[in-house]
Amino acid sequence: MGRLVEKNPVEDPQRAAIRVCRNGPYVLSGNIPVSDQLIVCGDDGIPVRWEKGRDHPARETCSLCRCGRSGSKPYCDGSHEGTGFDGTETAGKEAYLDRPDRTEGPGLILWDTEKLCAVALFCHRAGDAWNLTEQSGDPVKKATAMEEAGDCPSGRLVAVDKATGKPVEPGFGPSIGLVIGPQKGVLGPIWVRGCIPVESADGRAYTRRNRVTLCRCGRSCNKPFCDGGHGRPVPKPEVP
Ligand code: FES
Repeated sequence: MGRLVEKNPVEDPQRAAIRVCRNGPYVLSGNIPVSDQLIVCGDDGIPVRWEKGRDHPARETCSLCRCGRSGSKPYCDGSHEGTGFDGTETAGKEAYLDRPDRTEGPGLILWDTEKLCAVALFCHRAGDAWNLTEQSGDPVKKATAMEEAGDCPSGRLVAVDKATGKPVEPGFGPSIGLVIGPQKGVLGPIWVRGCIPVESADGRAYTRRNRVTLCRCGRSCNKPFCDGGHGRPVPKPEVP
């Protein structure tokens, strides 16, 4: 999992926080580094690796666009006010990892919480993560399954090593990745890394995790989390 380690020098990780604003942006605080994160695909169109792109200046506090309409992305420019953005949070506050689906093999268990899928598709890089898990008596297949699960930005997939009984997690420090998909012009979610707490507009905390993906296109049906909706065709406006 070495390629996934991305530590950074946040002075006081305890100050890192994200607050969802009602029908508005995410307020990020704690001087957290923000950078573009590109999905690089192989010739067959399947993602093979993450590539760090442009850095955006870290700020003590900033507002990140959630509606997808800002002209100053990744920051909010107030566009949500004029467009009637409905940012109602529809995701539950349950601990997602309490009852994931499970796939079990000789060396690994794969936890799967499908509703968190951001459709990054790293789980198909070198064989499906589920099939590899079932064949995890083979050390190479086990390692590949762990890598694919660790590359899942949303934390939908988590590999648990049966040798230790512990989840295998990438070593992230508090940081924000702005996912850019392989198709030109498709902006993916906000990749929240390193256990940054996320608080809803009504002041309740979502389950704190090493990695989650927040919607920044405004089209998710599982707000504030990404549900892959950024890749769906944009509906045509109704003609009166
Ligand atoms: S960014 Fe993925 S659904 Fe909005």
